[in-house]
Amino acid sequence: YVLGVDLGTSAVKVLLVNEAGKVCSEASREYPLIQEKAGFSEQNPEEWVEKTLLAIKDITSGMEDADAIEGMSFSGQMHGLVLLDKENRVLRPGILWNDTRTTKECREIETTLGKERLLALTKNPALEGFTLPKILWVKKHEPEIFDKAAVFLLPKDYLRYRLTGAIHSEYSDAAGTLLLDVSGKKWSKEICDAFELSLDICPPLVASHAKVGGLLPEVAAETGLRAETGVYAGGADNACGAIGAGILEDGKTLCSVGTSGVVLSYESASDKDFAGKVHYFNHGDEAAFYTMGVTLAAGYSLSWFKDVFAADEDFSQLVKAIEESPIGAKGLLFTPYIVGERTPHANADIRGSFIGAHSGHEKRDFTRAVVEGITFSLNESIEIFRESGKEIKTIISIGGGAKSEAWLQIQADVFQADIVKLASEQGPGMGAAMLAAYGSGWFSSLKECADIFVQEKEVYKPDAVRTEKYAKLFQLYKQVYHQTKEINE
Ligand code: XUL
Repeated sequence: YVLGVDLGTSAVKVLLVNEAGKVCSEASREYPLIQEKAGFSEQNPEEWVEKTLLAIKDITSGMEDADAIEGMSFSGQMHGLVLLDKENRVLRPGILWNDTRTTKECREIETTLGKERLLALTKNPALEGFTLPKILWVKKHEPEIFDKAAVFLLPKDYLRYRLTGAIHSEYSDAAGTLLLDVSGKKWSKEICDAFELSLDICPPLVASHAKVGGLLPEVAAETGLRAETGVYAGGADNACGAIGAGILEDGKTLCSVGTSGVVLSYESASDKDFAGKVHYFNHGDEAAFYTMGVTLAAGYSLSWFKDVFAADEDFSQLVKAIEESPIGAKGLLFTPYIVGERTPHANADIRGSFIGAHSGHEKRDFTRAVVEGITFSLNESIEIFRESGKEIKTIISIGGGAKSEAWLQIQADVFQADIVKLASEQGPGMGAAMLAAYGSGWFSSLKECADIFVQEKEVYKPDAVRTEKYAKLFQLYKQVYHQTKEINE
């Protein structure tokens, strides 16, 4: 067996996976967000460690052959900042990817380094969620804490340090810091120098499947694992989500709907030009990359809609009812900007809208409009990929969008691509387990592992008539952003 540990934003999920890729058991433990001020989002790194140890114990205590667990690896929420002093003690709560206090620092990064240079080095624009702006925020607002900082870690890298005693990061998570030369795969001295940061605060880098050691004896004793269990570095949650869905060669694209939604595509080239319009990160598959567009409120738009307008309804019944509403929801259009939007607008202040409501509309039309609006938003990322010359004929769909047949068909018709549903999907935790399986030597490549672990189940094909209708609506959808920019609280 191997363990895949997914350190998420609301919970840690651990999967026990066997050599056939079957999930034999799973355990999950939640932890809270600390939101002291508007825009602040923090977590106590100690909670990640405690809850992970408990979740692993939940798994091993139900096994007679826990000794047969050969290796483990990690997937983690990206971009979070954990600062350690020279004794490797945590200096302040972790500042998370969805914390938005750093708008000023982002503008400062752009003016100090220049937008072009930042893009050339990091392949990405300065966004509030990323790590460097958080480091600069601490430097400015908490200088007494910053002065003690010896190294920073990303969330799952801190967790792994506590399990092994070894400090590392790996390329896929380092790519989301704005401190990595993404194509060159090294920390950027130029960026560190520009912001008067010592290169020493950046942890040593290894590949995602690299073995970083075994478990500390006390961790082995507490979890019921052997101290010799191989611990492999792991990857960013989106990189691990890609691995877990078999996005491991050029031409493979993923659409994943969780709280936020992503469209992500494999890149073997280190420097294709998307002009920073989509993220460009290192993959967990060594030497590869992935490009990614993000819809901030994907599943969140639907759960918000349910909470406000259909609180006592069953979620799957609510979504099922969209089958009884026609394409375009009888002229109702929704933009899912309820917490701002990332791709393509990078605008935290834009707000969502329902447009075209009339007295004949019923709740199911509103639900359909929400589902279609989320899909249109994801299609804006696909459009950027296509405009840059990428061919997208097939998309693997996972998460909330793959739970409804009607939504899968909407994806096929809006994206104008074949949509593949997988036989079973476990998200980033499975990608982490696959890194451990590959690292342990079960397979000679991640691709070989995916051939066994990842099975396709069904394909949804676009229909010419519906595709044409959606293409027209999509043009209208894109105009709404520009016409509603001024609307604010
Ligand atoms: C990616 C991002 C989120 C986090 C969530 O850029 O900010 O998807 O990785 O964990």
